[in-house]
Amino acid sequence: MDGNRAALQGVAKALSKRISDGVTLGLGSGSTVAALIEELSPLVMEKSKRVRGVPTSAQIEMVASRNGITLAPFTGSVDLVIDGADQVDAGLNLIKGGGGALLREKVVMSGAKEVAIVASEEKFRERLCEDGVRVPVEVVPMARESAKVRLSMLGGVPQERLLPKGYPYFTENGNVILDTMFEPLDDPRAMEVGVKAVPGVVEVGVFTHKPIGVFKLKRDGAFELLERRE
Ligand code: A5P
Repeated sequence: MDGNRAALQGVAKALSKRISDGVTLGLGSGSTVAALIEELSPLVMEKSKRVRGVPTSAQIEMVASRNGITLAPFTGSVDLVIDGADQVDAGLNLIKGGGGALLREKVVMSGAKEVAIVASEEKFRERLCEDGVRVPVEVVPMARESAKVRLSMLGGVPQERLLPKGYPYFTENGNVILDTMFEPLDDPRAMEVGVKAVPGVVEVGVFTHKPIGVFKLKRDGAFELLERRE
């Protein structure tokens, strides 16, 4: 077993203690949450706890169903969100949306009483956008060209996400994604607000939600919990 998987098992054990009977989880998307659900479900089931999950994509909906989690619609709040990230900065701000699920992830996170993010140690940097990690920006299709111009005016270098054979990529909400390169961010919150104000932008993959707990998975199989409560 690789170190990240062993660390993930430790995180699953820690989280299972925070999950009581009747809890509703917000389920983020991506490979990390998928693996976490596989580790977490048996721990929760063996204690006969009933857990409902609000999925943020078809991908995680399939994983949740396969692992015996009862699916639930989003009705405005969830007890705990479990999610991954593409990059984490020193202030525990996040870049998310590598899998295109940023809009639903942000909506569900906005209604969360608690947020637990899980990310391997190589995703941590001092500032977001270091090392060329791009910010996914979800845009309604008719605004793709005008949004590119406005994002450039904000200092970004947008690139429309395409499928491997060159076809346009559409999110589950029918929108396109402009993966946008920025200089490393000194003020992620200002950037989140600024990009969101571009006409046609539906959501931006910079997440500055607080409070938050971030589980950092180490290669040696250990994990560290970083928390920001204010
Ligand atoms: C989904 O759109 C994303 O926000 C994911 O949470 C993020 O891309 C991390 O994915 P992995 O866990 O697959 O790296």
